[in-house]
Amino acid sequence: MTPSDVKATLSFSDGSPSIDLPLYKGSIGPDVIDIRKLYGQTGKFTYDPGFLSTASCNSTITYIDGDKGELLYRGYPIEQLAEQCDFLEVCHLLIYGDLPDAEHRAKFVKTITNHTMVNEQMQFFLRGFRRDAHPMAVMTGLVGALSAFYHDSTDVQNPRHREIAAHRLIAKMPTLVAMAYKYGIGQPYIYPKNSLSYSANFMRMMFATPCEEYEPNDVLVRAIDRIFILHADHEQNASTSTVRLCGSSGTNPFAAIAAGVACLWGPAHGGANEAALSMLEDIQRNGGVEKIGEFIKQVKDKNSTVKLMGFGHRVYKNYDPRAKLMRETCHEVLGALGLGNDPLFKLAMALEKIALEDEYFVARKLYPNVDFYSGIVQRAIGIPVSLFTAIFALARTVGWIAQLNEMIGDPEYKIGRPRQLYAGSARRDVKALAQR
Ligand code: CMC
Repeated sequence: MTPSDVKATLSFSDGSPSIDLPLYKGSIGPDVIDIRKLYGQTGKFTYDPGFLSTASCNSTITYIDGDKGELLYRGYPIEQLAEQCDFLEVCHLLIYGDLPDAEHRAKFVKTITNHTMVNEQMQFFLRGFRRDAHPMAVMTGLVGALSAFYHDSTDVQNPRHREIAAHRLIAKMPTLVAMAYKYGIGQPYIYPKNSLSYSANFMRMMFATPCEEYEPNDVLVRAIDRIFILHADHEQNASTSTVRLCGSSGTNPFAAIAAGVACLWGPAHGGANEAALSMLEDIQRNGGVEKIGEFIKQVKDKNSTVKLMGFGHRVYKNYDPRAKLMRETCHEVLGALGLGNDPLFKLAMALEKIALEDEYFVARKLYPNVDFYSGIVQRAIGIPVSLFTAIFALARTVGWIAQLNEMIGDPEYKIGRPRQLYAGSARRDVKALAQR
C-alpha cells in the first residue's frame, strides 16, 4: 500500500479532539482512509452494513471501475482475456499473477489435467443425496467433503498445501458439477478424459453416456470456456468475502471454498442467472414481448417485490462488460445451433432495450449484468436451469482460491472480526418464571 501525503481529519461537533487518519493510494481506483486505529483513538467504530464504503482488504488480483464498466484481471481487460486466452490460462493468471508462456502453460495444463478424477469413494457420498436435490445443495456438500477425501493438502499455512488444494479444486470442480448433474437425471457418471481441453472435458462429462460418445462442438466449447472466464473473479463480492472471512480463521481451503459455494447460491448473487432465465420464461409464457410493459410496471411498483433479474449491480453503474461479451456469445451459440430466432433471446433483447430507455432504470443506473444473457447461452447448450449457479461456482472457484491465498500470504492478515452497533436491551436481570 502506498501512503498518501494527504491525511483525512475527523472532527466531532461535541468538541472532542479531532484526529488525523492516514490515506493510502491504490494503483488505480479510489484511495482508502485507514481507520484501523480509530477505535483505539476515539472509542468509536465506523458503521457500514453491506460494506458500501469499506475496503475489507488490499488486493492485486481484480479491478473494477463500475462507472466506466471496466473489469481487469491482474491488469488485463476482460475483453482481451475473453478473446485471446482460454480458461486455464486465466486460472494461471489469477493464481500466479501472470499469463503463462507456452512452457508454463503446458506444465499448468498437465498439472490440472492430472487432478481431474475424484476419489472413487465420493460417488458413494453423492448417493446419499435425494435425486431431486438442488445441484447447489449437492455442491455445497461435495466441496466441503473434499477436505475429508484430500486431507494431505489441508494445512492452509503451508504454501505447498495451498497450491495442491488450488490445483485439485480447479481440476475437480467440473467433475463434481457433472457428477451432480448425472446423479440428478439418473445417468452413470462419465469419467474425465484427459486428452480433451478443460472445457471440452466438462461438456463430455455432462453430455456423453456410456453408450454414446459426445462430439465436442467448438462453438459451444468456446462459449462455456468464455462463461468460465467471465465468472472467474470479481474482487470482493459476497461469496469471495465469505471465502476470505471463513478462511481467516485458519480453516482448510476446501472448507473455505464450500462457504463460498453456499453464499453464491443466493438469488441476489450467483442464483441470479437461474432467476433471470425463469423470469424470461415467465414473461414468455404470459404473452411474451407484448407483456413487457406490464412486467416493467410491476418492477417499478414500490409495493411489489418483482425485480428485473439480471439487471443492476452494486459496483457497475454502467453496462457490465461481461454482459456485452455474453450477448456476443449468445449470438454465436444461437447461430451455430440454428436458433437465431430463439424467442427468449428476442424477448431478452426487447426487454433490455425498453429498460435501458426507461427513466426508472436510467435514474438508478441499472444496466444488464452478466447473468442477463448467460442463462440463454447455457440453456441453448443444453444445460438445465438448476445447474446454472453450479457452473458459476465452478468458474469462480479459481477466484476464490486466488483471493484466499493472497489473504493468507499477507503478513497483515488477521481473523476477520467485524464489530457492531448494539441496539438491544440494556443489562437486565432474569425474573423467576412465575414473574415474567
Ligand atoms: N430491478 C428493479 N429495481 C432494481 C434492481 C432490479 N434488478 N436492482 C436495483 N433496483 C433498484 C432498487 O429497488 C433501488 O431502488 P430505490 O432507490 O428506489 O429503492 C435502487 O435500484 C438501488 O438498488 P439497491 O438494491 O440499493 O442496490 P444494491 O447495490 O444493494 O443491489 C443487486 C445490487 C445486484 C443486489 C440488485 O441490483 C439486484 O437485486 N439485481 C437483481 C439480481 C441480479 O441480477 N443479481 C446479479 C448480480 S451480477 C452477478 C454477481 O456478481 O453475482
